[in-house]
Amino acid sequence: MLIKDGIRMDGRKPDELRPIKIEAGVLHRAQGSCYLEWGGNKVMAAVYGPREAIPRHIQHPLKAVINARYNMVPFSVSDRKRPGPDRRSVEISKVTSEALEHVVFTGLFPRTMIDVCIEVLGAEAGTRCAGLTAAAVALADAGIPMRDLPVACAAGKIDGTVVLDLAGDEDCEGEADMPIAIAPRTEEILLMQMDGHMTYQEFEEALELALKGCREVSKLQKEALLRKYETKNEVAP
Ligand code: CDP
Repeated sequence: MLIKDGIRMDGRKPDELRPIKIEAGVLHRAQGSCYLEWGGNKVMAAVYGPREAIPRHIQHPLKAVINARYNMVPFSVSDRKRPGPDRRSVEISKVTSEALEHVVFTGLFPRTMIDVCIEVLGAEAGTRCAGLTAAAVALADAGIPMRDLPVACAAGKIDGTVVLDLAGDEDCEGEADMPIAIAPRTEEILLMQMDGHMTYQEFEEALELALKGCREVSKLQKEALLRKYETKNEVAP
């Protein structure tokens, strides 16, 4: 049983997020970076570029190529994960790159690439949302021009109830999980995927919840960036 009397196993209400902590600019060697904790997920994102795209055949004459690489480190899951890319990480890298490409002003940097490295250090469901959310902060920290600060959050269905932000057991035992990413100013959808089944009505309810989650996470992203760049007013002696 994943939900009893409207309360989930970890004590959350159906429309509550797990605790989230975001820190911008944690790595000194990368142009931009972000460390994010979201429930049991721990994610580091780093951005390099824009720089000349190599090998040259991947260059686009009119725009920058966004190369997001999602990776889970071997110790991020309970059964040690074999290092290196697999089908799942290639898929997540692709959908993340495509989502980010829609907000970055790629046309300003023809023939270049912008590398976005997403390392999942600890995983507990919703890592693609955590990764994309961290990547957005790292891109902003790197000063990459974007028309919005993208954000991601999932909603799904457990024991017949539509809930926000599935945790580990809820993801394994639940009926559906639907991660989305949006550009929060216009609420344009940049990514939408779904595992499992929901009725159309449940889908609409889940979408509304996921959007609400995105709005909350978006605030935390902006606060993290403001914390990094706030200038302390020195009081004259
Ligand atoms: O992480 P996300 O929900 O975006 O993607 P998923 O493919 O639905 O994976 C759900 C969860 O399964 C991950 O967050 C991990 O906690 C877990 N997982 C794992 O334990 N071992 C893997 N090789 C892949 C995923």
